[in-house]
Amino acid sequence: METPRTKRTLFLLIVSLSTLHVLSLSSFTPVDNHLIDCGSTVDSIIDNRRFIPDSSPSNSPSTLAISLIDRNPSPNSPQIYHTARVFESPSQYEFKLRDSGTHMVRLHFERLKDSKFDFSHAQFHVLVNGYVVLSHFSGDTDYDMVDPIIKEYLIWVDCEKLVITFVPTKRSKFAFVNAIEVISAPKDLIADTAQYLIGDKVEDFNGVTKQALEIVYRINVGGPKVTPFNDTLWRTWVPDNVFLKSSNGSHHVYSSGQIKYQMGGASREVCPDNVYNTARVITSENASIPHVNLTWEFPVMLGYKYLVRMHFCDIASISIGLLYFNVYINGNLAYKDLDLSYVTSYMLASPFYADFVADGDCSRVLRVSVGPSSKSMAYAVDGILNGMEVMKMNNTMGSLDGELRAELVMKSWPKGNIGILVPLIAGVLMLVSISLVMRRRMVGLKDSVAWSKLPTDIPEVHLKHTDQQLPVKM
Ligand SMILES: *[C@@H]1O[C@H](CO)[C@@H](O)[C@H](O)[C@H]1NC(C)=O
Ligand SMILES: *[C@@H]1O[C@H](CO)[C@@H](O)[C@H](O)[C@H]1NC(C)=O
Ligand SMILES: *[C@@H]1O[C@H](CO)[C@@H](O)[C@H](O)[C@H]1NC(C)=O
Ligand SMILES: *[C@@H]1O[C@H](CO)[C@@H](O)[C@H](O)[C@H]1NC(C)=O
Ligand SMILES: *[C@@H]1O[C@H](CO)[C@@H](O)[C@H](O)[C@H]1NC(C)=O
Repeated sequence: METPRTKRTLFLLIVSLSTLHVLSLSSFTPVDNHLIDCGSTVDSIIDNRRFIPDSSPSNSPSTLAISLIDRNPSPNSPQIYHTARVFESPSQYEFKLRDSGTHMVRLHFERLKDSKFDFSHAQFHVLVNGYVVLSHFSGDTDYDMVDPIIKEYLIWVDCEKLVITFVPTKRSKFAFVNAIEVISAPKDLIADTAQYLIGDKVEDFNGVTKQALEIVYRINVGGPKVTPFNDTLWRTWVPDNVFLKSSNGSHHVYSSGQIKYQMGGASREVCPDNVYNTARVITSENASIPHVNLTWEFPVMLGYKYLVRMHFCDIASISIGLLYFNVYINGNLAYKDLDLSYVTSYMLASPFYADFVADGDCSRVLRVSVGPSSKSMAYAVDGILNGMEVMKMNNTMGSLDGELRAELVMKSWPKGNIGILVPLIAGVLMLVSISLVMRRRMVGLKDSVAWSKLPTDIPEVHLKHTDQQLPVKM
């Protein structure tokens, strides 16, 4: 923990002394990094990240893509939520990509409180490269209880662009968005194979990378909230408390020691130190092994598969070879006698993650437990979890939100009535990277985001099925 932090500070110092405007806390430099502040005319810097406007000020205003400013924003809210882009007919953003593979897409929504639009009329669908990611969405925070709403997706792209389409549900409604992030993910972020749990059977689930995924839960077990500022991929990890259903006989632990990332294992981008250095554990204090489980529960939807990524890092045992435990998902044994020493080549404080796929069933709850196994030992740690991510997979309709296919969403808007958008070319100032490689690549980066006329056909994602597997966990 100490060493990288010191290095980062030093790194920051050097960068801020140079003439470059943008700092990056992360060692990971994405090839594609589009941060857009929608409806704005000026750049917004948030956590050292520069969000650029989606239109240059010289643009003739289009009545179909209106930019809105909150006349009275709350003083603590980040600048990207002070403006919004409003669409009264189907409209899209097109991002030119230089990297293929998994891309992180984050959409930021916050209804402006004081603007010339009544946000109770917001209702729309959002498509990303032919996947329906939001359907009949209103941006209302009433049931989410969070302000703003940040939706995050992982989308596999093997063409040269990523297209985000906003479609109002009807003429009397409108669509809006405050900010958009499109970032190429590290190649090792999503492994292609996971363990699929069907009842008490476990099978390989292949082709995970080619599914559209929505991150629905991302928790830091036993630790505080980790914000985009402190995460290697600008993610948010929330404390696990509200999901923790049974914690009898457990306690949380914190390690100030260094997390030992290993080649071929979970990388710092897969999950940062701040998540691995806290955990909840079950420990045996005497000659008997506690007869308890640590259990978390997550509301899920029937009809979707969920990718469950569990992050483990033994920061609690006094020696290798003492920790064995079972992992259960929905009451079924998912991993028997998990031996963290073995999977990390006998190194303590070395991270490991395991991916499972489970169906959202009629209980509408995903239940995840860790608990002692028959190999667990007395006077030792008998169960641990450091972090967890729950991701929803697109259904057979290619949707993450309902039964409506992308083609039907497009057909729902009467053809011929589509207004023509004046193509507004954004003045793109990419996040300036410090590395020379990136500076060379800066050439030709202009115009990498563009408004475009709505095509008559929705772009199709061509999903190639390959047997190639990405390098995985150990
Ligand atoms: C980043 O993490 C450090 C401790 O790890 C914490 O003190 C700081 O408040 C965090 N910063 C943000 C912006 O979350
Ligand atoms: C946890 O312990 C309390 C009392 O110590 C007990 O009442 C409760 O039933 C236990 N819960 C579980 C899930 O074992
Ligand atoms: C071990 O400790 C637990 C609680 O800490 C207690 O319930 C149990 O009776 C103890 N067992 C023995 C054998 O002392
Ligand atoms: C832990 O959970 C599993 C799966 O639900 C169950 O089979 C096992 O009996 C539980 N153990 C304890 C001690 O409750
Ligand atoms: C996700 O969508 C693709 C096509 O868009 C489809 O091939 C795949 O089977 C879907 N995933 C699931 C889990 O249904």
